[in-house]
Amino acid sequence: MSGRATALAHSNVALVKYWGKREGVDPSLNLPETGSISITLGELQTRTTVVFDGGLDGDKVSGIRDKDHERVSQFLGLVRERAGIETFAEVRTENDFPTGAGLASSASGFAALAMAASHAADLELSKTELSQLARRGSGSAARSIFGGFAEQKRGQAPDGSDCHAVQLQPWDHWPLSVAVAIVDEGEKPVSSTAGMLWTAETSPFYAAWLADHTQDLETVRSAINERDFDKLAHVTEHNCLKMHATMLTAIPTLLYWNATTLAVMRRIWQLRELGTKVCFSIDAGPQVKAICDASSLDIVAATLESVPGVKRVIRSGLGTGASLIDTEVKA
Ligand code: PMV
Repeated sequence: MSGRATALAHSNVALVKYWGKREGVDPSLNLPETGSISITLGELQTRTTVVFDGGLDGDKVSGIRDKDHERVSQFLGLVRERAGIETFAEVRTENDFPTGAGLASSASGFAALAMAASHAADLELSKTELSQLARRGSGSAARSIFGGFAEQKRGQAPDGSDCHAVQLQPWDHWPLSVAVAIVDEGEKPVSSTAGMLWTAETSPFYAAWLADHTQDLETVRSAINERDFDKLAHVTEHNCLKMHATMLTAIPTLLYWNATTLAVMRRIWQLRELGTKVCFSIDAGPQVKAICDASSLDIVAATLESVPGVKRVIRSGLGTGASLIDTEVKA
């Protein structure tokens, strides 16, 4: 068979984070220990084309770091198994933002790959199934299948059949904006998968991180439904700081921030004290994502640009879910 498809997906930033894998289950299922809630970012986009081609004697991957080729090939193996084919594929992927620096390139990357590879293999998957498939590549990718506000459900089943994302609200329910302060364009030293395992094994705060999670998810769900920015800001920052507290107290310590990260956090607190609706979140990297109401984006972005050490600021509104651009399959 031969088949090709191109898909687009956007990155996301979690308001309630995923940091820890479920224990005692098949690790290849990549099941999270907790649920998570994110917003999908319209301006941070990955475009991926997958071509299954009977003439190839191995998968051919371009546009991503060499060290990630194997992970993509393993993911294609899951798609082949499900479609009952053995054909290798060529994958071309383009990100319009720096990769590997805590900007969730794996989220948009595996969401776009799940969508493109499944269509190119002539599989008809529902959004729930696509989300489960994307999760096998990267936990946060499960959320990027959906636009606006998405929740990744923890689920209970050991086979992962109830572990997928759902859309809580579409982007236009509450058009928030995000200013991403890029403070270092280099690659992060420790991958999130390695960081999570290491944190769970060694941080004395890991149990406390898990204990509050259900409450944080509930509060953020209601803040979104009520469009209550103050409530959202409080839990988003606290949840992010709790996650980083588990990293900082891992042995050896896992510190993703640099001095500019801290300067940006302080500037965001100052803006909020002066009445701007803004809060921050930080993932497994040094960049700071300032989440604000759409009318404050210009002032927030300009303020972050003026912080010494900030290289540039990416402005984004909320985005839609993963989408198919074109597809063609021949038997
Ligand atoms: O999906 P992964 O394995 O890249 O892990 C994502 C981890 C965080 O970005 C730090 C948190 C999250 O929920 O996105």
